[in-house]
Amino acid sequence: MASFELCFFFILSSPVLFLAAVESCGGSCGDQDIRFPFKLTNQPEHCGYPGFDLSCKDSQAILTLPSSGKFTVQSIDYTDQTIWLNDPDHCVSKRLLKSFTLSGSPFQARFPQNFTFLNCSSDGTSAGWGPFGIVDSCLSNGNYTVVATPTDFYSDYGAYGPLQSCSEIATVVAPVLWPVWSDPSMGIKLTWKEPNCRSCERRGGTCQFASNSGLDVGCAGGLSNGISKGVKYGLIFGLGVPFLFILGITFFLRHNIRGRYQSSSANTDTISSSVALGSASAVKGLDGQTIESYPITVLGVSRRLPKPSDNTCSICLGEYQAKETLRTLPDCQHYFHADCLDEWLRLNGTCPLCRNTPEV
Ligand SMILES: *[C@@H]1O[C@H](CO)[C@@H](O)[C@H](O)[C@H]1NC(C)=O
Ligand SMILES: *[C@@H]1O[C@H](CO)[C@@H](O)[C@H](O)[C@H]1NC(C)=O
Ligand SMILES: *[C@@H]1O[C@H](CO)[C@@H](O)[C@H](O)[C@H]1NC(C)=O
Repeated sequence: MASFELCFFFILSSPVLFLAAVESCGGSCGDQDIRFPFKLTNQPEHCGYPGFDLSCKDSQAILTLPSSGKFTVQSIDYTDQTIWLNDPDHCVSKRLLKSFTLSGSPFQARFPQNFTFLNCSSDGTSAGWGPFGIVDSCLSNGNYTVVATPTDFYSDYGAYGPLQSCSEIATVVAPVLWPVWSDPSMGIKLTWKEPNCRSCERRGGTCQFASNSGLDVGCAGGLSNGISKGVKYGLIFGLGVPFLFILGITFFLRHNIRGRYQSSSANTDTISSSVALGSASAVKGLDGQTIESYPITVLGVSRRLPKPSDNTCSICLGEYQAKETLRTLPDCQHYFHADCLDEWLRLNGTCPLCRNTPEV
């Protein structure tokens, strides 16, 4: 009997004991939670991984990249292992154009994307650029507009529409926030491979160095420690009822935990990788077969289209001519030249006008 009680005591108290041991680490800056692998510069060495030091100034966490200088921390996602950074002066593009590099840091770009920055003489800081590029307001002024456009899009469409009148400033690899058509001035998103604390974070554990020397990390505590939610609730519920019942559950668990433990930790990994795949495929372009399934219209001599469409393709800005082939997006009923739209959807997968993703 006593051994069962002891067993419960250990199951419930071990995470608490582990957490108490590392309590001196961890902290916050403003409302940013800071914990392993990050630490504040004034915390002990063992609290953070090399290269992950943050300073805290006026409640704002700051990361200094060895070759590219100081960036403010917008947020850290410990489970996804990503950090969203911004320029202290809110002009990320300026930093990217000034020989930005991650070398010497433990970070990589989460979604690297080639962007071409263009200096367009036209005024009109936001109007008219639509699907052609993203106006960078911090580099633009009343006399010229600086536009960022994905490089592969620019090499296909640079000769059309308003981009023709622009001159190239530079092409850079921008570590943007989202995989496609992401505004580089929103900030940059970095990730890290080492140390890998993903599974520890996912089950609520504390990631920390495994020993006093070396860079191996381990996971302390985490109430669910790989056990599925069902079993966890079973444990909590079991404590509230008479001891005999506890005895019964203990028996049950002793026979079942091992099997569930193994299958549930395998499940967690499968789930997370399928989620990752799902989110990656949700934003990329559409395949040829899907695009082909959208309705085609061959314009008659009257060139009449259903309201509210006008007579210009917003992708290439060309006016529709009789006998030209147009394609419609079924959800939003927007018309475009079939050639222009097909190319666009292969890159983007959303309607250039309303940014809806067509239902597949
Ligand atoms: C960016 O462009 C370079 C040179 O053309 C190419 O090697 C690289 O793969 C591109 N990167 C991305 C993320 O598209
Ligand atoms: C854009 O071009 C104008 C002249 O056409 C120049 O004065 C200006 O400095 C350029 N801006 C940038 C950011 O390159
Ligand atoms: C635009 O150009 C004019 C004349 O070159 C100059 O006086 C004005 O200061 C410039 N505006 C801005 C916002 O730089």
